[in-house]
Amino acid sequence: MPGQVSAASRHSSFVVVANRLPVDRVNHADGSITWRTSPGGLVTALKPVMRENDGAWIGWPGSPDEKLEPFDEKGMALIPVTLSAQEVEEYYEGFSNGTLWPLYHDVIVAPEFHREWWDAYVEVNARFAELTADVADKGATAWVHDYQLQLVPAMLRQLRPDIKIGFFLHIPFPPTELFLQVPWRRQLLEGLLGADLIGFQRPGAAANFVRLVRHKLGYKTHRDRIYLPGGRTARAASYPISIDADGLEALARKPETIARAEEIRAGVGRPARVLLGVDRLDYTKGIRQRLRAFGELLRDGQCDVDEAVFIQVATPSRERVEQYRVLRNEIDRLVGRINGEQGRIGRPAIQYLHSSFPRSEMAALFTAADVMVVTPLRDGMNLVAKEYVSCRYDNKGALVLSEFAGAADELKQAFTVNPYDINGLKETLLTAMRADERDLGRRMRAMRRYIREHDVNRWARGFLADLHKEPPPD
Ligand code: ADP
Ligand code: F6P
Repeated sequence: MPGQVSAASRHSSFVVVANRLPVDRVNHADGSITWRTSPGGLVTALKPVMRENDGAWIGWPGSPDEKLEPFDEKGMALIPVTLSAQEVEEYYEGFSNGTLWPLYHDVIVAPEFHREWWDAYVEVNARFAELTADVADKGATAWVHDYQLQLVPAMLRQLRPDIKIGFFLHIPFPPTELFLQVPWRRQLLEGLLGADLIGFQRPGAAANFVRLVRHKLGYKTHRDRIYLPGGRTARAASYPISIDADGLEALARKPETIARAEEIRAGVGRPARVLLGVDRLDYTKGIRQRLRAFGELLRDGQCDVDEAVFIQVATPSRERVEQYRVLRNEIDRLVGRINGEQGRIGRPAIQYLHSSFPRSEMAALFTAADVMVVTPLRDGMNLVAKEYVSCRYDNKGALVLSEFAGAADELKQAFTVNPYDINGLKETLLTAMRADERDLGRRMRAMRRYIREHDVNRWARGFLADLHKEPPPD
């Protein structure tokens, strides 16, 4: 393994704590393994801060029973957390993705509540907190991420009251009446309150959290501040996450990317319009709704495969969770039916891909697409929408965006849709496909300006600056 370092030498003044490490394992034919930095924006955003502070990242490498020593990768110190097969089942697939994920996403599928899942969640959160307490220098900053680790802030504070603790929730925070279903709601709220600053994607989520804390825990609050027993004050506010806009645009401008985009268009038969969806294969993403709408437009003769072809990239995700298996089968059947009824030889209506692609291929796909279709039923942010915009330096292309994605707060010039309204979705798809260039240019320029000014670097620096700022007097 490259750059092995000893666990004992690993102390840091800046520690990122997330369910996953920011690297993907690459297995070679000779049995050796190496690691590749995962493409996510979070890594890009935190890299400079990690470098400035000799930062460490604590996370799970992604497979059960993997016992790895800490190692360095591309200037980041990575500290792996081991999860047993049973913990993967109960903490990750169970409480994180079978209870919290559906509950925090509008109960699109029914969340399951199991006491043994909760026990595993507590145990694994404690392991992350203990490791962080060991790694953090005196007075260090720890930044804890996402719904899998909501108990870590309080557990960590208990172990290390000297450090600054930030927490950021990447997914939506649910409405009060849904949150109250959780048998362990009090513990989750108290867990988060261990942080000095609790960040959410949307202002409504932060306000909702503060309200819950006031009503359910009885703590005094004022605007974004929460006054805790013992005299400490926590803050809850919104910090909409973003992308590495400059990096992605630079990739999209490369001649190789432009040539590859041409190849992609040729590969689907050069229709007048290429529509694109890019998602993890997740029931929150509204994949079924968008494909149904497109299938009906073809079936009813409102468009045909010479006018439009749909490329749907759907990376399989959380495949051992039942609801994800059900979704995969449903989408497989739906795509098969639409292609069987509407496709022609050499011209399927939907090109359906399960692969995971490098960034350069993603940039080429965004460049090739005339209409980007982003239709989640609920999404904390949706980075794909922002990535599409940052690739369209030609000011062409239309973004169809669900009003239930956090990104809709910011990308106001998108063609917005309610994905539950299939007729409305059909109309909007046609409008976006047939919009004139001036209208598209006006919309895209405004969205690009916004994304350039609100990139992921600004997000990370803004959060960390506020974490270290003394709160103003009441
Ligand atoms: P979520 O975090 O729920 O998966 P987002 O849209 O916010 O949804 O982020 C998904 C990220 O994963 C984006 O950066 C997107 O480019 C990337 N991504 C999605 N599908 C693929 C794929 N097939 N190959 C490579 N990257 C992908
Ligand atoms: O944004 C939500 C999130 O769960 C992240 O925490 C995670 O990195 C991503 O989606 C992919 O999910 P998973 O780690 O379960 O594959």
